[in-house]
Amino acid sequence: MGEEIKKVGIVGAGFTGKQIAAQAALNNFIIKVYDFDPKCVEDANKYISGVLKRKNKLDAIKNVSYYSDLSEALEDVDLVIEAVPENLELKKEVFSQIDNIAPAHTIIATNSSSYPVSKIESAVKRKDKVLNLHFYPPIPTRPMVDIMRGSQTNDETFEVGKKWIEDIKCEPLVVKKECLGFVFNRVWHAVKKECLKIWDGGYADKETVDTAWKIFTGMKMGPFLTMDGVGLDVIYSVEMSYYNESGDPRDKPPDTLKEMVENGDLGLKTGKGFYNWGRKK
Ligand SMILES: NC(=O)c1ccc[n+]([C@@H]2O[C@H](COP(=O)([O-])OP(=O)(O)OC[C@H]3O[C@@H](n4cnc5c(N)ncnc54)[C@H](O)[C@@H]3O)[C@@H](O)[C@H]2O)c1
Repeated sequence: MGEEIKKVGIVGAGFTGKQIAAQAALNNFIIKVYDFDPKCVEDANKYISGVLKRKNKLDAIKNVSYYSDLSEALEDVDLVIEAVPENLELKKEVFSQIDNIAPAHTIIATNSSSYPVSKIESAVKRKDKVLNLHFYPPIPTRPMVDIMRGSQTNDETFEVGKKWIEDIKCEPLVVKKECLGFVFNRVWHAVKKECLKIWDGGYADKETVDTAWKIFTGMKMGPFLTMDGVGLDVIYSVEMSYYNESGDPRDKPPDTLKEMVENGDLGLKTGKGFYNWGRKK
């Protein structure tokens, strides 16, 4: 095996990016966190330091550094994970910036919830070193990561990426050939799609669906509560990308969901979504 991963760059330190950083820092990797918004960099610092303190990994705090300058962040990393918002053009732009800055051996991965990296790889020269590494936050309770190749990803990149997932104590979900939704997101898409139809069509209340789900599966949260946790803006854009890919009208998310997003009712993060979370927006 060639390159070993020691230093990891995170580009986009929002909800998911900071969790990936914390999981990798807990497992002794050197982490370089970048976001173009200084407030997000500050929030990520608080979150990651808090996780490391709670887990009694105080010595790992010094292994995490924070940047508002991409060139400084990526000068010596072995793996970069892009976790910027779910927008294909933005992801291509960010992949291109990373490709221009990161060392030649560096693997570039996207945490996209819906875009296969084959749709992003045209933005980089190193097409043999790209991956989908898709996490399922909250990472501590859902320690699994889809790993999928681009059209030219080589075996070494794939094996190095898979080993890194194991090294951060997550289960690699190997996608054997390109699949929209990877492994579990595809299953989750089918669940979301039907739940939204039941709710939007007035067939049953969201509470009824969540209760049925909890009784049937033994899980603590139903699909609507889970969607509120993910963020309805993320849910909407992911569902739209499935629809855009398939062109099947049955995949189109309901307009009612779009209206909630436009109204700023994004779930837990804004205090109101399918449920009222009791906090002001
Ligand atoms: N939310 C989830 O549960 C979840 C799960 C798996 C994957 N994802 C994927 O992760 C990605 C990020 O989602 P999120 O929920 O963490 O979003 P988020 O909005 O919480 O975070 C995105 C971050 O990217 C930053 N950003 C935006 N443009 C940037 C740029 N050009 N350069 C650097 N930083 C930039 C923002 O400031 C923000 O901090 C998306 O592709 C999403 O599909 C999300």
